[in-house]
Amino acid sequence: MTDPGFLLEEARKARENSYSPYSHFAVGAALLTEDGEIIRGCNVENSVNGASNCAERTAVFSAVAGGRKNFSAIAIAGARVLPDGTLVEAFCPPCGVCRQTLLEFCREDLSVIIGKEDGTYMVTTLGELMPLAFDLGN
Ligand code: THU
Repeated sequence: MTDPGFLLEEARKARENSYSPYSHFAVGAALLTEDGEIIRGCNVENSVNGASNCAERTAVFSAVAGGRKNFSAIAIAGARVLPDGTLVEAFCPPCGVCRQTLLEFCREDLSVIIGKEDGTYMVTTLGELMPLAFDLGN
């Protein structure tokens, strides 16, 4: 596994491209492939709520579109965006839809690194975040 702090820093860089004018909550994700490549994603919002996309799914979809489907870790960096544009680090565990999306391509031992308010991070696994998940077994 790559250094969790390094992957989280990649997620913070991905967050710089967040388009989040409605929630003022910017999120970046960095997905590590088994080959050591890093694919970034950010949240992309829309005036129609349901058309918005989370950072994690942006990263997964971008990776799959580029022909990559084997992953070993994902880091997620969330932040509140203050009116003056300042970012305040925020805890952002992946939402349920993103957990299900990750499960489609990743094993339960996928490392999930989540940035915390104080700038540190926690490390967990997809299996811990999504027990008893539905899976057709394809
Ligand atoms: N968001 C993510 O990008 N990832 C998550 O796992 C949770 C939430 C985004 C969606 C929306 O643009 C904003 O954060 C506030 O919900």
